[in-house]
Amino acid sequence: MIRHIHLDTCDSTQDVLKEQLSQFPGENILISCEEQTNGRGRSEKVWSPMPGSLYLSFTIAPSVIPSFTAIELSVLVTKFFEGSNLQLKWPNDVYNKDHKKCAGILVQTTQQKMLAGIGLNLFSTLEDYGGVFDQPFTCDKKSWCHELATFIHENRFRKIEELKKVWMNKCYHLNDTVRIKDGKDSVVGKFIGLGEYGEALIQNDEGIHKVFNGSLRLFNPLLEELY
Ligand code: BTN
Repeated sequence: MIRHIHLDTCDSTQDVLKEQLSQFPGENILISCEEQTNGRGRSEKVWSPMPGSLYLSFTIAPSVIPSFTAIELSVLVTKFFEGSNLQLKWPNDVYNKDHKKCAGILVQTTQQKMLAGIGLNLFSTLEDYGGVFDQPFTCDKKSWCHELATFIHENRFRKIEELKKVWMNKCYHLNDTVRIKDGKDSVVGKFIGLGEYGEALIQNDEGIHKVFNGSLRLFNPLLEELY
């Protein structure tokens, strides 16, 4: 049983989830909203609102290997929308068939539970962002959020090897040359897969690098100075 609260508006569903969890520590909780005014992404980034977006945060048990939890969520999002040809970018971004980001995932750990936050554009009204679907439509956000969170809870992976296999099949940059930047640090090389903790394995002349954090882009030597 999940305690689902759907709000008209809130600053961040992650914050509301934390508040609710302090009142009901033992429960499975899902917080969603029509409009989020101060959404947060990974690495202190802002998550901007858009009419066709879902915003949801919920309690979740960690994956078999806890550092795979966000990766597992990204795979389950693509499975929920099976047929829409969604693809994955390391570590846990979801891209649509036109190679535009359509969902982002944030996982935070508290003393008792993991808190999963998903921002997902059913459709997009901004040029730089993609939607799962091409055309805008009237959507019942509460039901979409409930169904997505329920699907995730009911379809967890029991084996990391199986999860890795599905992730690789959906990864659009496998065996491509990429750059991963983390602050001032940067690694360029061929993306050859996921390591034992979900880290990126990057192969170059120096060997195989294990990269645990950062933002990945396809490497384009002609555009490098722009990055
Ligand atoms: C990313 O940077 O790609 C992750 C974005 C996560 C955004 C979602 S929207 C619902 C939840 N509430 C937040 O403030 N952030 C997450």
